[in-house]
Parts: sequence; C-alpha cells; structure tokens
Amino acid sequence: MHNVREITKDLYSIGGDDRKLSRFENIHPIPEGISYNSYLLVDEKTVLLDTVDLSISDNFIENVQEVLGERPLDYLVINHMEPDHAGSIGFIQEYYPDVKVIGTKKTFDLLDQFNFKTSEDNIVVKDGDTMSFGEHELMFISAPMVHWPETMATFDTSNGVLFTADAFGTFKSLDGKLFNDEVDFESDFLVPARRYYSNIVGKYGPQVQSLMKKASKLDVKYIAPLHGPVWRTDLEYILDKYDKWSKYEAEEQGVLIVYGSMYGNTEKAAEDLAKRLIQKGMTNIKMYDASKTHVSYLVSDAFKYSHIVLASATYNLNIYTPVQNFLLDIKSLNLRNRTVGIVGNGSWAPTAEKLMKEILGKMKDMDVLEESFTITSTMKEEDVPKMEALADSIIETLE
Ligand SMILES: Cc1cc2nc3c(=O)[nH]c(=O)nc-3n(C[C@H](O)[C@H](O)[C@H](O)COP(=O)(O)O)c2cc1C
Ligand SMILES: [Fe+2]
Ligand SMILES: [Fe+2]
Repeated sequence: MHNVREITKDLYSIGGDDRKLSRFENIHPIPEGISYNSYLLVDEKTVLLDTVDLSISDNFIENVQEVLGERPLDYLVINHMEPDHAGSIGFIQEYYPDVKVIGTKKTFDLLDQFNFKTSEDNIVVKDGDTMSFGEHELMFISAPMVHWPETMATFDTSNGVLFTADAFGTFKSLDGKLFNDEVDFESDFLVPARRYYSNIVGKYGPQVQSLMKKASKLDVKYIAPLHGPVWRTDLEYILDKYDKWSKYEAEEQGVLIVYGSMYGNTEKAAEDLAKRLIQKGMTNIKMYDASKTHVSYLVSDAFKYSHIVLASATYNLNIYTPVQNFLLDIKSLNLRNRTVGIVGNGSWAPTAEKLMKEILGKMKDMDVLEESFTITSTMKEEDVPKMEALADSIIETLE
C-alpha cells in the first residue's frame, strides 16, 4: 500500500519512516526512529529528488509507481549520495532505465564508487545552474560538506520549495505527519533535531552558514529536508536554531556536567559542584554519567549549553575512556566557544586534568577555568574551597 502525500501542486512526498534501525550510521541510537524523505515533481517532465535508504525501498518504489502511474521517470536529482538517501538509486535505475541523473561533478564520482550505473546522459550541474521541466524551474545550489563534498541543495523557483539535503533534518519518525505545523516541533522534535544536527552535521558549521547565506537571497516558502518534517510555516524558528548551532553559539546559559567514575568518588565531586551551583542560583544544569549515556546525547547538550564541566578519574595514566571519547568527539565536531571547568581525580599518578586541558587547548575558543583542580581518590574538606572557587568562577562567567 502506497504512502504518498501532496506537498504543493505537482510535488509529492514519497519517503517513509524507519523504526527498526537501532543506530543511525551504526553509531547514534535512534529510539524514536528516523524518516528518509524523498520528493517527486510531476510536470511536463517527471523529476525525483533523492531516493531513500534500502531498508524502505519496497514502500518507496510503490510510492513512485503510485504517483507516476504509466508515466516514465525522466530525471533523478541527487542532492546527497550518502546511502541513507542514495540506497535505492539502483532500484530506480532498474525500474526506469532511461532516467537521467542530475548532480554535481563529485556526485558522479561517488555514484561510480558505490557501484551505481553512470551514463553519457548524466547531467553535471554547477552552483546557480537552472533547468526547466515545464512549469517548474529548478536551480541547483552547491552546498559542499553539508554533509558530504558532493552535496547540493535544489530550489524550485516557481513555488519556493528549497530542498536542503541533510540540513534542517532531524532524527525521529514522522508517523504519518508531513509538515512542521502537524507536529509539536518544540516538544517532540527539538531534542532529536539538535542531536541530529550536532552529531551529523555539527562539524560543518561554516558550510551550513554559507548555505543559509545563499538561501537568504531566495524567496523560500518551503524547506524540504531529507529527514523530518517539511517546513511551510514559521521558517524563522528553524533558521534561527540552525544559525545558532552552525555558529557554535550556545542556546542557553547553563551547565552540562559530564563525569566518568569507576567507584563513585568523581561522581560525588560532580554532585557536590552541582549542589553548589544550584545554591548560587544556577539551576539550568544537566548531569550525565559518561559510562551510561550514549555520547551522542552528551554532544547534543554540549551544543546547547554555554558551560561544560568535565570530571574524570585517571585511568591507566589517561582520561577515563568514556569522558575522553566525549571530549575527542566534540573536538572532532569542531565545537568551540564554551567555558569549561575541570575536576580531575587519581590515586597515585593523576593525569586526567592535565590531559583534558591539552585536548581543550587544541580546540578553538574553549575557555578553561583557572579554578579547575584535581582531587586524590576522594573529595575532602581541603577540597571544599577549591570546589567553591570553581562554582563561583562558573557563576561569574555566566551571562
Ligand atoms: C584500571 C584502573 C587504572 C587506573 N589508573 C590510574 C592511574 O593511571 N593514575 C592514577 O592516579 N589513578 C589510577 N587509577 C585510580 C583511580 O583513578 C582512582 O582510584 C580514582 O579515585 C577513582 O575515582 P572513582 O571513585 O570516581 O572511580 C586507576 C584505576 C583503575 C581501576
Ligand atoms: Fe548525510
Ligand atoms: Fe541523511
């Protein structure tokens, strides 16, 4: 049974949900699933914009056939070659062998690398190129590294639909809904959207900024991403979130505390700090055990809050592995512009504090508080003034 919805005249949503996959990119847990969006434009010519992950290709092909009926598929626009969208290209080429593929030069390198058919009929487009398909004219906007090098966005100049690839996407299935005004985005999607952005696209803030700059010159009426709802109202809301995230600006003044503790002593120190902050009036605090919560959730909150506290035991002369993993992850994602407090711990050769500072020193605009310190095995009376000073310093640096 097909599952098709009209977005606006001549344009159909033909993607679907995946609630079976447990980890996106085999890393990030997606307990609420994900949608793979695909769009079909039916004009004098028929144009498919991206396909879907192989996992939902059966349903996808039914949707394509439902919309096209006996008509051929003339063109396939590939905005992004990652397999969560490119996975069903092989089926499309099999069902519609005459389909002409439109993409950037790099799209075709990847098409070949992933063993899809390439042909003489391929249409290589550059930034700003346009093509008319009848009533609708599509403009191609290169968006390299929003998320991969071949990525582009596509703008329908006749109805204002901007197809944005992974940008403006989110984790979480759509459950039959399609538009942003059919969901409660703030309560149901904002957290998965932030976790999606920060972990998947977060490294490419400058490239997202550049796409947003290009989009600001267009009369955009719809934002149609490859995951999550299509935006047709309140576009400013999601543009504002993306603007902050891609500039690595904190959304909220608040403190993310991430600790790594084998026996609970580092955890107690982290709790002591939280208590002091709350007593000083800062209640916007989120605390995680790095061993327990998947790192993608910690990364997401690191993008959200202005302050980060890392509390870590020393482990074989190193940072406790789950905390180190988190720190290396935000470093790799180019997170910057945060104030960081550190509490180290160790029993005979404590190195965690120093090593965390070394990693933070290689990151941009990470302000490590001088009051950071190390406890030996357990927090004691003599550590109280140090903890108090660290708490004061966090409070003073909040805006
Ligand atoms: C496998 C292992 C390796 C450790 N390596 C070190 C180390 O290299 N240097 C050190 O000072 N302490 C080391 N420790 C000791 C812990 O860092 C120390 O006991 C700390 O207080 C534990 O804090 P916790 O109660 O929060 O787990 C190690 C402990 C374990 C279990
Ligand atoms: Fe992607
Ligand atoms: Fe994607």
